[in-house]
Amino acid sequence: MQAAPSTASEESTDFLPINGTDYVEFYVGNAKQAAHFYQAAFGFRPIAYSGLETGNRDNTSYLLVQGKIRFVLTSALHGKSAVADHVKLHGDGVRDVALWVDDATSAYEETMSRGAESVHGPIVLEDEHGKVIKAAIRTYGDTIHTFVERRNYNGIFLPGFIAWENEFYSVPDVGLKYVDHCVGNVHLGEMDTYADFYADVLGFRNLLTFDDKDISTEYSALMSKVMANGNDRIKFPINEPAAGKKKSQIEEYLDFYGGPGIQHVAMATDNIIETVTALRSRGIQFLNIPESYYDSVLDRVGTIDEELLPLKELGILVDRDDEGYLLQIFSKPVQDRPTLFYEIIQRKGARSFGKGNFKALFESIEREQELRGNL
Ligand code: FE2
Repeated sequence: MQAAPSTASEESTDFLPINGTDYVEFYVGNAKQAAHFYQAAFGFRPIAYSGLETGNRDNTSYLLVQGKIRFVLTSALHGKSAVADHVKLHGDGVRDVALWVDDATSAYEETMSRGAESVHGPIVLEDEHGKVIKAAIRTYGDTIHTFVERRNYNGIFLPGFIAWENEFYSVPDVGLKYVDHCVGNVHLGEMDTYADFYADVLGFRNLLTFDDKDISTEYSALMSKVMANGNDRIKFPINEPAAGKKKSQIEEYLDFYGGPGIQHVAMATDNIIETVTALRSRGIQFLNIPESYYDSVLDRVGTIDEELLPLKELGILVDRDDEGYLLQIFSKPVQDRPTLFYEIIQRKGARSFGKGNFKALFESIEREQELRGNL
């Protein structure tokens, strides 16, 4: 692992100030049922809706919220919708990691002048609650970043959405607070291309690099570069497969997703034991970690605030860096294709990504790949 060099002028030259992740939009086969899954299993709250009743003749979208996390689930109302094409190729997956900015027009123009590929230029959406300006650029595969400017808007989400709630059904949240990072998988040889894209076009910097010596098992390997924006609120690790004896988990993803895309979204909690206990009780399945992991974990990470037993029972991993430690766990894929999964993370000082857990984690993924006939 290498920490990247930084330059003193970075802060003052941030041409793309980003306040945070605005929303993550998923294109799915059946948004109505997916919305129920995110409520019942993940504890998200229904907030807003767009569809036939609001004059949207092409797609239906549901907005669900937990903490600062906004998920939008969108599906096609007919076969000519671009959403239908996306779902046919990729299955359910992330289309858009939208970025909250103060000036979407500037964000679009600054990135376009540095070589971004446009999805659409600035458009103004208006209703009685004010106006929102959106513009979008492409990243890897069919994934996009929409810049969202909402400083002149006080509606529930975006113009075109109406309030949506189910007065007869409510599930307690599970303590998810914010999107910690979103990881992309790209083809062999493309990691540097997209790391450079985030550096040159969006002004991000390379926070960390992992090579195949950091991330390898007996069978497979991957390489990863973590790109972060100026204020570190946005972190995008980018993975590519590396040569190994068997098929890398990244190649399995690329095969089943039909190209590059978002591999996992990490969501932060302040109490991972409570969050994972709730998620497991609601049917979310996580990767199994061998009991032997817990025999030596405290030798590696030192003293931690948590009891070891519940971590072991729940399969939560621990890692430490110079600044503190972190607790993390990874779900199994949340759709039929072995593509998107979730990470739940609790940071206690550490700002890294769990390098000390990579080996145990990837061996666990390989056991799942083997069961799927994809190793
Ligand atoms: Fe992660």
